[in-house]
Amino acid sequence: MNSTIVEVRNLVKYFPVRTGVIMGRTLGNVKAVDDISFAVSPGETFALVGESGCGKTTVANLILKLLDPTSGEIFFQGKSLKGASGAEIREYRKSVQAVLQDPYGALNPRMRVGHIIGEPLEVHGYSKSERNRRVQDALRAVGLPETSESQFPHEFSGGQRQRIGVARALTLEPTLIILDEPVSNLDVSIRSQVLNLLKDIQDERGISYILITHDLATVEHMSHRIAVMYLGKLVELAGAEEVCDDPAHPYTASLVAAATPLGRTPPWQIPIVGEVPSALQTPSGCAFHPRCAYAMPICSQVIPPLTQLPNGRRVACHLYPDHIDSIDKSAPPPAPEIEDAITQEDTSKADPL
Ligand SMILES: Nc1ncnc2c1ncn2[C@@H]1O[C@H](COP(=O)(O)OP(=O)(O)OP(=O)(O)O)[C@@H](O)[C@H]1O
Ligand SMILES: [Mg+2]
Repeated sequence: MNSTIVEVRNLVKYFPVRTGVIMGRTLGNVKAVDDISFAVSPGETFALVGESGCGKTTVANLILKLLDPTSGEIFFQGKSLKGASGAEIREYRKSVQAVLQDPYGALNPRMRVGHIIGEPLEVHGYSKSERNRRVQDALRAVGLPETSESQFPHEFSGGQRQRIGVARALTLEPTLIILDEPVSNLDVSIRSQVLNLLKDIQDERGISYILITHDLATVEHMSHRIAVMYLGKLVELAGAEEVCDDPAHPYTASLVAAATPLGRTPPWQIPIVGEVPSALQTPSGCAFHPRCAYAMPICSQVIPPLTQLPNGRRVACHLYPDHIDSIDKSAPPPAPEIEDAITQEDTSKADPL
């Protein structure tokens, strides 16, 4: 068997932005996903982390084939989806399922839970008896009583609704589930219940997850590897513990510092400053350089490629290999100069008064 479930290679998705609704002038492209490559192994939880707008959901929609890529390729169990037959695409759609962020909006309020969970089976032509069997199996797997089948979504709490969403994703016995912010709309008290449920299901069934979140604290204990995204690009990819205990990229370090509980010292003291620039006008060179406390002249000129360090970790940063050792990670860095890319845009939008 192939050692990867899904692989994306040089995946790119640009959204053209126009001035008017009809025949408007093209202002440019939002580079939502800009040359991303990674592979997910069987039984692995691969986390995709980054601030709002960095392109995480677009990656998910490309893998789910809800969007066509501008360029790049997706491979399923080693085989490219380019030129795949109708039967192969159907098999792929069965194998890759999703659980979305909003447990309230994701479920049709007029449908009974049994129907909601069994709908993907109906679409794929399963018999009624097989549908019933799988719906019951899925309800058991997510810890809901069999009687839930005849109830409506509004009769359940947020956490239970998210369990219904997970049950729906399980019925087709997928090999990969994309979890797009699966707990961020839930009360903090029930987040860990849902994450533990997902972990148990993975242990039992060997399913792979792509876990998408803006919150590093959510992913640390349930991910095997973490990929950090910034403005459409991967800036770091490594084992979950390595990323959280010893972040290599200054952006990752600032995310880790932000997620470090009060009273504990982060592994690398970098506060996150400024906001993510517009994806329509990404800064030149390394897109993070206007917010980076350690930016050097080369950072605004040359895009750093995601390169493998001798220890196997991958990072896209000009500090490697020559400059990283001169940094004292235990001391706060000098405040970065927030560059034109951000300030110009802000002033253009500012109220003249
Ligand atoms: N259909 C679209 N048309 C135009 N631009 C889009 C479209 N979908 C997404 N974008 C833009 O692409 C960029 C990435 O969006 P995306 O939803 O993938 O980010 P995200 O990382 O999932 O953010 P969040 O954490 O807020 O969910 C954003 O700038 C967004 O405005
Ligand atoms: Mg999103």
